Amino acid sequence: MTPPGTMGCLTSSNRRHLITIGDLGKEEIRAILALAEEFSAPGRRTDRGRPFSVGLLFFAPSLRTRVGFAEATFRLGGSVIDVSESRFGPGMSHAESYADTIRTFSGMVDAVVTRTPFALDRQAVERNCMAPLINGGDGNANHPTQSLVDMFAIEHLRGPIRGLSLGICGDLRSRCSRSLLALLEMFPPRDLTLISPVERSLRAGTLGPILAARTSTRPYADPRGLDVLYLVGLPEGEGHERLGADQRAPFVLTPERLRDLPTDSIILSPLPVIDEITDEARLDPRVRFFQQSDLGVWVRMAVLELLRGSMKTGWTG
Ligand code: CP
Repeated sequence: MTPPGTMGCLTSSNRRHLITIGDLGKEEIRAILALAEEFSAPGRRTDRGRPFSVGLLFFAPSLRTRVGFAEATFRLGGSVIDVSESRFGPGMSHAESYADTIRTFSGMVDAVVTRTPFALDRQAVERNCMAPLINGGDGNANHPTQSLVDMFAIEHLRGPIRGLSLGICGDLRSRCSRSLLALLEMFPPRDLTLISPVERSLRAGTLGPILAARTSTRPYADPRGLDVLYLVGLPEGEGHERLGADQRAPFVLTPERLRDLPTDSIILSPLPVIDEITDEARLDPRVRFFQQSDLGVWVRMAVLELLRGSMKTGWTG
């Protein structure tokens, strides 16, 4: 693995931030996945033996990302500072801006993991964040560590991605879909099938040239021939974006539709499940999304390791 601090995407103050998956090079992504695989080996010592802190600054709900980074920090021997209530809030008489909050918080911890209901502003992050920042999901924009978890789970549970036929079904405009598609442009599967209602389909020009050349679409949750089916929940939405039950029904995975999925295929999801799979279909052994979630801790440990060279303390492993 290239020594931390010498790779691309350094800020002017030599801090790295992971805001989009494009902040990582292909070699770094491969290094993260390899390190996650090492960490996951039984009996592997992971405690780095030097103190460091990770601050969790979550302004939108999260279970997997928040707990996953907390547990990853503990397994590496670090401490977590989890801010569940901050002075940043529009309901306050003197609301503190996100920029001021991140500046203050990042001056006290060695790394920040944040989730926001809005898209992060890269320039503001670079100006205000004194520690490496990991984007734990910002609005509908990006969720880079989720896509790393997805790719790790695909390869760990099913095999090298380049030989696989991959389908993504559901909300293709979600941050999880966007980040996964950006990652797949770097590590393309053999072919890609996109399945979504038109209201949640990709906007023209979203796919890069490598993926566009190997992508087709299907009108309902038809899993024929897929090695991996990645389900992304379809929120009902509101106002003119609302999707009724009739519009969402074709994209629900049922036992009948599952009959067409090859026996050695797997079904993944970033979770949480909304209603994109029926209770009966969830009992199918090819449904592996909780294993995918479990594997996420190893990936988050590897991400923290990658960024350790940008931390303020002498935590150099
Ligand atoms: N997949 C994911 O980001 O889950 P959480 O919202 O629970 O973090």
